[in-house]
Amino acid sequence: MSEELNINSSLSKEDKYKSLLPQLKALVEGEEDMIANVSNIVAGLKFSFDYYFWVGVYFKRGNNLVLGPFQGPVACTRIKIPDGVCGQAAEKKETIIVPDVNAFPGHITCSSLSKSEIVVPIFANSKNNGRNVIAVLDVDSDKLSSFDDTDKTHLEHVSLMLSQIIDNN
Ligand code: SME
Repeated sequence: MSEELNINSSLSKEDKYKSLLPQLKALVEGEEDMIANVSNIVAGLKFSFDYYFWVGVYFKRGNNLVLGPFQGPVACTRIKIPDGVCGQAAEKKETIIVPDVNAFPGHITCSSLSKSEIVVPIFANSKNNGRNVIAVLDVDSDKLSSFDDTDKTHLEHVSLMLSQIIDNN
C-alpha cells in the first residue's frame, strides 16, 4: 500500500469526496490499530479540502467527548454532552451543520478563527447497539457557510468507516 493520496485539486467537492473515500478505505486496510487508522483518516480529510481548518474525532467517554486524533490547531480536550455543537450532535444523534458558529447558542470556541462547522455522530458498529453514539467527527472551517449536504452525505460515509475502526477496537 502506498501512503500517499492522489486527489486532483481541480475536482469539484463532490468528485473529491468520491475520489478520496476509496483511497481512505485502502489506507486503513491491513492495519488493526485504531489510533493509527483514525489518525490517517483525519489527515487524509484535512489535506484534501482547502476549506478544512480543523478536523478531528472526539471519543465518547461516559457523558463526555474526549479529544482524539486531529489535524489543526490545539483544541478543547473534553466537551460535556450536550454542550457545544459536538455535544448536541451526540445528544440528538444527528449531523449538525453550522453556517456561522457565532450564531449557534452554546458553541464552544477552541479557535477564534473557526467560522463554520459540521459535526457527524459516529455510531456503534455492533448490530445490537446500532444507535449508540461512540464518537463524533468534527470539521471546522475558517470561512462562513463552508459545509452543505455534499459534505454531510460523504462525511456520513466516513463516519461509517470510522465506526468499524473504533467499535472493532
Ligand atoms: N466547535 C466545537 C468544539 C470543538 S472545536 O471546534 C475543535 C463545538 O462547539 O462543539
